[in-house]
Formats: sequence, structure tokens, C-alpha cells
Amino acid sequence: RKLAVFVSGGGSNLRALHASILGDKIKGEVAVVVSDKPKCGGCEYAREHGIPVIAFPRSKAAPEGVSADQLVTMVLNLGVKAVLLAGYLKLVPAELVRAFPRAVLNIHPALLPAFGGQGYFGMHVHEAVVRSGVRVSGATVHFVDEEFDTGPIVAQRVVPVYPLDSAQEVAQRVLKVEHELYSWVAAALCEDRIVWREDGRPMSSDCS
Ligand code: GRF
Repeated sequence: RKLAVFVSGGGSNLRALHASILGDKIKGEVAVVVSDKPKCGGCEYAREHGIPVIAFPRSKAAPEGVSADQLVTMVLNLGVKAVLLAGYLKLVPAELVRAFPRAVLNIHPALLPAFGGQGYFGMHVHEAVVRSGVRVSGATVHFVDEEFDTGPIVAQRVVPVYPLDSAQEVAQRVLKVEHELYSWVAAALCEDRIVWREDGRPMSSDCS
């Protein structure tokens, strides 16, 4: 199953997904990496592994970037069947969400709906978690709709938050389960094992 992976940063989720693919845990292939930061670590990784990179959106930082319509056309023409956002920080164009119904996933480093939405990017999520005094955090994989972090949840994994944790310690603990959780959900997606309840809530058929 051909996948497009969207990145904006170091690409640790891309690397984990790609490792799971190479280890035959995910029956898929990364057909293209899309990024608003064509010089980021995720794009470097893609180039090192011969994976095509598309810059989106067009911007001063990426003059070679494409428009939303061009992006959808290119991704569809590559035979991509699902889109995985992995540390992608921009809003996905509605055209893309509509072109891939129930096939755009995102991973968020907190337990949505808590600590979700535009204000919680990068470390801000973990700083807010530590400041709030909660004792658990974790990762959420959800289907993407046309807003930030609001689509139907597929899976979540919890990590403990200790009273003396720094944001960085929480971030590292969450990132580890992100990698595991995303590979698990991506594998289910590629094997059509994600089923939808009548109320429109998705779940993986093998989830406990
Ligand atoms: C990390 O904060 C991760 O929690 C979130 O996006 C950021 C970058 O991820 N998903 P990655 O290392 O670029 O995959």
C-alpha cells in the first residue's frame, strides 16, 4: 500500500514507520515525503533513502513548493492510498482530506482532546502537560478532518507523568510510544483492519 508521509521536523516518526516497513511489520511503502520544510531532517532522511520529496506549500522557504491542487494530483498520480502526518505542523489542505476519505492519519503527542489544537505545537504540548499537573499523558493517532487535531481517534497509548518531570522528559517518553503506536495503526490501515462503528468512530479490529 503506497503511503505519503508529511513531515516538518526531524522525522523520527518517519524513520520509525520506514523501519517498520523495512521490517515487514507494515505492508506498505513510503512513496513520497511531503514537507513545508524541504531542508528538515525528515526530508534529509527521505533523500538518503531514495524517497521522492515534494515541498508544500509554496513559500519563501520553499519556492519550488506546489499548490494544494498540484499536490493532490501528484500524490494521487503516484498511486498513494493513504497519507500519514508525522510531525507535520501545517494544516492539511481540505482538497487532500477530501481526496483521501478515511485515509489521512495524524499522530499527536498528547491524549486528545486534551492539549490539542493549534496552540500546542512541538514542546508546547509537554510544557502545558507538566504545568497542568496531570499524571498521565501519551500519544493519539486520529483520522484527519479539516481542522487541527479534531478528527476521530483510532488509538491512544498512555505514559506516566511524574511530578518532577521536565517537559523534555515527558517529550521523550511520549515520542517512544508514538513510534510504536503509529507503526501499529499504520499496519492496521494497510491491512484494512481499521473498522468503523455505526457512530462513525474508528477502531482497529484487533484492538483489545
Ligand atoms: C514531535 O514532537 C512528535 O511528538 C510530534 O511531532 C514532533 C516531531 O516529530 N508528532 P518527528 O520526530 O519529526 O516525527
